[in-house]
Amino acid sequence: MSKTRSTHWYSVLLVTCLASAACPLTASDGRAPLGPTGASVPQEGPEAPGNLRCEYLKNPLGIDVRQPRFAWVLDHSERAQKQSAYQILVATQPALLAQDKGDQWDSGQVESGDSTQVVYNGRPLESGHTYYWKVRAWDKGGSAGPYSSTAQFEMGLLSPEEWKGQWIGGANQLRTEFQLSSAPERARAYICGLGYYELRINGRKVGRNVLDPGFTTFDKRVLYSTYDVTPYLRVGANAVGVMLGQGWYGSRALMLQMKIEMKGAERTVISNASSWKVHPGPIASDSVYDGEIYDATQETPGWDAPGIDDAGWTPAQAVKPPGGVLSAEMMPPIRVVDTLVPRTLSSPHPGVYVYDLGQNFSGWAQLRVRGPRGTRVQLRFAELLYDNGTINRENLEAAKARDIYVLRGDDGGEVFEPHFTYHGFRYVEVTGYPGTPGLDSLRGRVVHSAVEPAGNFAASKPILNQIQRLIRWGQSTNLHSIPTDCDQRNERQGWMGDAQVTAEEAMLNFDMAAFYTNFIRDIRDVQGPDGTITDTVPHRYGQRPADPAWGTAYPLITWYMYQQNGDRRILEENYDGLKKYVEFLRSRAPDNVLRYSYYGDWVSIVKTPGALVSDFYYCWDVQILAKIAELLDKSADAQAYSRLATDIQNAFNHEFFDPKTGNYANGTQTANTLPLYLDIVPEDARDEVSGNLTNDIVYTHDTHVTTGFIGVKYLLPLLTRMGHSDLAYELATQTTYPSWGFMAENGATTLWELWQNKTGPAMNSHNHPMFGSLGAWFYQALAGIDNQPGTAGYEHIRIEPRIVRDLAWASGTVRTVRGTVSSSWTHSPGVVTLEVEIPVNSDAQVVLPHVDPLTEVTVKEGERVIWEQGRFVPGAPGISAGKLERGAYVFDVGSGRYSFKLTGQ
Ligand code: BGC
Repeated sequence: MSKTRSTHWYSVLLVTCLASAACPLTASDGRAPLGPTGASVPQEGPEAPGNLRCEYLKNPLGIDVRQPRFAWVLDHSERAQKQSAYQILVATQPALLAQDKGDQWDSGQVESGDSTQVVYNGRPLESGHTYYWKVRAWDKGGSAGPYSSTAQFEMGLLSPEEWKGQWIGGANQLRTEFQLSSAPERARAYICGLGYYELRINGRKVGRNVLDPGFTTFDKRVLYSTYDVTPYLRVGANAVGVMLGQGWYGSRALMLQMKIEMKGAERTVISNASSWKVHPGPIASDSVYDGEIYDATQETPGWDAPGIDDAGWTPAQAVKPPGGVLSAEMMPPIRVVDTLVPRTLSSPHPGVYVYDLGQNFSGWAQLRVRGPRGTRVQLRFAELLYDNGTINRENLEAAKARDIYVLRGDDGGEVFEPHFTYHGFRYVEVTGYPGTPGLDSLRGRVVHSAVEPAGNFAASKPILNQIQRLIRWGQSTNLHSIPTDCDQRNERQGWMGDAQVTAEEAMLNFDMAAFYTNFIRDIRDVQGPDGTITDTVPHRYGQRPADPAWGTAYPLITWYMYQQNGDRRILEENYDGLKKYVEFLRSRAPDNVLRYSYYGDWVSIVKTPGALVSDFYYCWDVQILAKIAELLDKSADAQAYSRLATDIQNAFNHEFFDPKTGNYANGTQTANTLPLYLDIVPEDARDEVSGNLTNDIVYTHDTHVTTGFIGVKYLLPLLTRMGHSDLAYELATQTTYPSWGFMAENGATTLWELWQNKTGPAMNSHNHPMFGSLGAWFYQALAGIDNQPGTAGYEHIRIEPRIVRDLAWASGTVRTVRGTVSSSWTHSPGVVTLEVEIPVNSDAQVVLPHVDPLTEVTVKEGERVIWEQGRFVPGAPGISAGKLERGAYVFDVGSGRYSFKLTGQ
């Protein structure tokens, strides 16, 4: 069918459909056909598995896990469905897979409910090979569904000996040429260019990664990326060019290996001093903090294509290897993920132009300019403005945060973007511009680790949505291969305290599993033989050993990875490291109280003794270790560490609790929150301590928080657990100082480092993600999406929305490892509705709170009554039980979509 005819056919169909609203169309995913109302007409039985992942990644290229894990998501026409068995086929050729043959692995029909974390168990996987896989599943009644569509994964270089090249350097531009006798059929490039690289082949940039590779402890580990370079190569002469920046490494070094397969022949191209040449390029200087100076008059046109006169180029030099092992970069790379159009352009002084991008973010500016050769345009970046409209850079500390572009002088104009730096900013000041720039002369390029969004939260109260927006922008723009503390001043480090308090929020908003798998390995890399870890990972700042509230990132993020994804392997891989860490803490706490602390409840308004904060985490770390030991069947350790946890708990109470006042230490919100949160307060004192806490919030501080970023992570979840969700909600929607709403209403577009509205110098970042820990409470309390206590990976879900005060509705969706979980409720006097989605292979307890003073409550699901006259009415598909529990109606449901409505008199 010709293009025109097919377009015509489609528009006729569309018009007919719009007119009659009664024609079957195939859904865009090609699965279920659409019915007359546009709703999908489900096929009978299990559907083909979707969202196939390997090591949490979609069709990854270049992984170095020898036994990767698979995951898929299931769908079914019926409610309350589970997988009873699966079959995975892994083949070396797509054609084999198409015939349902798995020459690499045919798992056979495995009786198992596992649809995530399924470990490859076929023939050994070989370096550089691509494997194709698919999976099918049987439902609980034993019906087999169709196979999924084909996914693939590819191995990187699995052993160090396979790297044949040399680490080379000598200048920031390197090149080589080579001949290919026939057309390449398959070609791969494996590259680690430190600090940062840009790989170019035959005049084109390869791939879309920027600021690659990720920031690691370079003497322990360096990350390489794998690219499919087949389409970049051709018969005859080819050229490879690499630009190197300093990045976090602070120097330049390249390791590259290309494997090119042609019909009956193979060619390997490697980095070495003998066949590569170097020449200084147009980048006169580059620094993460200071920016880039790019002198386009120094470009060497054609350097990344074959056939230039390379007389001025000198041989590359072998350089000192970074020392770390080469590991595959197995997480979403850093990319330009969005482009922002400036809101306004002003000129506070002649020749000085200030753009407002309307949003604080990480990245850089793209500049369009036309002017005489040699003209120098400067871009300076800032988060803030002075009242007179000029940029305020007092909070950037030593970071110069500026890019300079020297024009080539092209008649048609030119476009500049830096290569090896990024800035945190909302405003850009342009000086030296030839002529007058327009709004169109500049764009904001948003740059960060390209993690996929995983969650959505919205509610009827606008301030909550504003805060959610600040959280998401702040979180995503602080993902730069590691979770950073800020993105603008001369810091931008993996501060572990900030990382641990934000991890749950990040996991609910974004697909973070591969990112944190990498980060936890980074933590392992910094661990000393004595078990100590560092305040920042990679270690650049802070003290050694880490403040316990920072070091706890190791056990806590590992544990959150387990809770969110059911990831047992991460527990196994880190068990020894975690035990060593806990043993180190124990060595510093001979009387079971861990007192050392550097930062405590950082940036709090009312100070809490650091020792209390440290000791709280010590107790929790030991509790987590005991739980992990139990999960891994290490029963002796499990017992020993739970005994130790009890000893620490007793010592904590003895050290910090004052029975006379019912307060811990000085009775701050944080001091009373932490032990309550961990449930280590003696039972007979619990009411008094919680009373003191709520009194402090409501009466002493007029419903405001006084905590730093440690205490606040637990304060709202604790209030919810104590039955005070209304109070938590008041704190979350508070708009006077100190509060999140105060930031939102005072111009924040990302969360600040301080509760205060400071614009002066020092410790005053306007994009610090740590107070965004609140985001987890949005999902877990307001939308009410969580694991059932004691379970992991959303196999057994609890949907328990907290219906609070004047909130008319809230809605949360999380794309979990097992599929989409969602919860949306509305409340008006006497009526609560709740829409719930539970993925196949999971079940849930759905809790409908009884919020109004109602009698004669009726609950319906769809059109069917499921609760009446004080009793559960069985019979609704997928709903197996119902009971009244502490004033709420609790239903046990299987997978599916449900629509509940509670009414009463
Ligand atoms: C960072 C914090 C960090 C702290 C350690 C600061 O400079 O920006 O967020 O956790 O140092 O106290």
